[in-house]
Amino acid sequence: MPIDTVEERCETMLTVSVDSMEGRARDRARRVQWRDVLLNTIDLTPAIGSEVVVDPQALLEGAYADEFRELLIRRGVIAIRGVDFDDDQLRALTATIGEVRQGALYENKGMLEVVHIPGSYFWHVDGTYTEMPPFATLLAARVVAPEGGETEFANTYAAFEDLPLDEQEYLSTLEVVHTMKAAHNYAVPEPSVERFQTWQGHRGVRPLVWRHKSGRRSLVIGATASHIVDMHFVDSHELLQRLLAHTTQDKYVYKHRWKARDVVIWDNTGTMHRVRPFDLSSGRRMHRFAVEGTEPLATALQLGAA
Ligand SMILES: [Fe+2]
Repeated sequence: MPIDTVEERCETMLTVSVDSMEGRARDRARRVQWRDVLLNTIDLTPAIGSEVVVDPQALLEGAYADEFRELLIRRGVIAIRGVDFDDDQLRALTATIGEVRQGALYENKGMLEVVHIPGSYFWHVDGTYTEMPPFATLLAARVVAPEGGETEFANTYAAFEDLPLDEQEYLSTLEVVHTMKAAHNYAVPEPSVERFQTWQGHRGVRPLVWRHKSGRRSLVIGATASHIVDMHFVDSHELLQRLLAHTTQDKYVYKHRWKARDVVIWDNTGTMHRVRPFDLSSGRRMHRFAVEGTEPLATALQLGAA
């Protein structure tokens, strides 16, 4: 289905939802009319990413929350075009997927304004320093850069499942030290003492391969991965870089080119992501919400101690 046709349908549905003159009864009737359309998703690439055409009001009411959670895990990324949600509505949408993550420092009722996070230019999974990374992240475009600023996603389930079986089993025995220093040293090679001390507070040992409740497994790599436990640093570096190159091949990657009123949600437990460079003077600005995790990212020892 051509994308321009999808966008035209989004425009039509948005008009339906916001036109208060239509009246609630007529609005409800139209929602019913669009129920079948919601489930009619469009694959953005063969391995990752689906665009969903959706009635915004039905979305906020969580009419298809179960389908969204299933689709997130199966396709990694859900893109929705043409939804002009304010922060309360974005929070409500996030809450249909799971518990809204409140965050530690910079969030306002769970909302993080994202302008420039130096470490985010490199492939990563959010929250690998913690034993319970967020399940999903939602990003809404407030101001879009005219050039660059795309967000890329790589499917870490598909990349793992395409490896030879003996390698899958070997990798599943390995543990990785994740540190904020590893992630941020790319962007800030000479940190101040204060910044370095902050980095030191974010560190954790995690399995290289995440065993999910579903039985599926995904790779946990990226910029936060400092080194593999009990492996010579040269071999560790070589292995992590090889897995990164494997996972970020074009066939596993979806690049989202942002337009105004886009909302993108991704499964943080089965993907990696990064933002592409853009001109900071463009004013590019995103609002981010996250869904609390429900699956621990823990080694066998950590699980046993829990
Ligand atoms: Fe991130």
